[in-house]
Amino acid sequence: MSAAGIYVHIPFCRSKCRYCDFVSVCEGEEIQRRYISALLREIYTGRKIYSGAADTLYIGGGTPSCLYSGAVANIATALKETFDLRISEFTVECNPDTFDEDKADELKDAGVTRISLGVQSLDDAVLRSIGRRHDSAAAKKAVKLAVNKGFDVSADLMLGLVGQGKNDIEEFASFISAEGVEHVSAYMLKVEDGTPLACDVEKGLVLPSDDECAEMYDYARALLGKEGFVRYETSNFCKNGKECRHNLKYWTMQNYLAFGVAAHGKIGKKRYFNTSDLKEYVNAQENGRHKYLTEEILSDEDELSEYMMLGLRLEKGINVKETEKRFGICFEERFSDALSSAAPYIDFDGDILKIKPSYALVANGIINMFLS
Ligand SMILES: C[S@@+](CC[C@H](N)C(=O)[O-])C[C@H]1O[C@@H](n2cnc3c(N)ncnc32)[C@H](O)[C@@H]1O
Ligand code: SF4
Repeated sequence: MSAAGIYVHIPFCRSKCRYCDFVSVCEGEEIQRRYISALLREIYTGRKIYSGAADTLYIGGGTPSCLYSGAVANIATALKETFDLRISEFTVECNPDTFDEDKADELKDAGVTRISLGVQSLDDAVLRSIGRRHDSAAAKKAVKLAVNKGFDVSADLMLGLVGQGKNDIEEFASFISAEGVEHVSAYMLKVEDGTPLACDVEKGLVLPSDDECAEMYDYARALLGKEGFVRYETSNFCKNGKECRHNLKYWTMQNYLAFGVAAHGKIGKKRYFNTSDLKEYVNAQENGRHKYLTEEILSDEDELSEYMMLGLRLEKGINVKETEKRFGICFEERFSDALSSAAPYIDFDGDILKIKPSYALVANGIINMFLS
């Protein structure tokens, strides 16, 4: 079995963006310190659930860059003391608003190799309208700083935002490419229940239509392609083989451990979820009665369905022989109905199955045909 990935969730942000429903709160250093102590306790118990090697770390959130100084180093030390780490990639998610020279040095000293920056857009009016704390100039400064400090840099771009023009995507693609960014995650805006954005939509805010969104996505894909970025997953693009190794573990269903509130991991066939309630998480750790909110054992069918769902989002698609070996199935027999009903939308040569790039945005409908 190949080395696992490790995910750590940081549930803090300086303020909430209008579209976001990720598990995060806006709390100061006192609560942050209590949380990190709880998190370290959970990490130190981790050896009970996994004793193999791990080679990717990913600290996400929320906004890990808004943590008090020293917190990331403490997390890294606890992980090193607990697991057999052979780190090939160590990513920390940062918001341009909390990523400055000191933070960059701190993260470098903690062993971080890769920064994922929430740029989202380079249009000030758009950034304001979605509730970002930074403007375009601050996002650019953060990108330059991260590259100059020698990190591998990934930039998040959001698509389908109200008021976003093609010029925004043009500026984003040419700027990040010129600066030496080698990875982009491009997310289509999703309206999440209970967010201020959902409220605005209920009150009549008109979002770009599905056709406009599809056009935006195609435009982004083409421009990023022109700059040398290859799409390797529906929402992810990279140059020079700089795929996110950690996320590839999710998408190919390798083992990944997860720590922190709302985190979920998978080891072999076991999947486990932590509570999403911050108070409950901290209290449980402080009282030494940590237990996962839920644990489930994936059936062969569940695992195969998930493997198909994730694999069909990858540009390289699904390798038939590997799938047959992993699940003990005859691929063409097992998926004969799906292969014929999805025929117009897929490329299938008997060895590799993939969705045609022009259907990437409607991939979910096609993927459904392969799920039992
Ligand atoms: C944890 S944040 C990244 C780090 C940092 N918190 C920040 O926002 O700068 C993860 C990313 O998910 C994307 N995201 C979050 N909510 C989204 C939504 N409702 N629709 C589309 N993308 C979303 C954004 O691009 C965001 O940068
Ligand atoms: S997008 Fe990032 S900064 Fe904004 S609320 Fe979500 S996690 Fe926090």
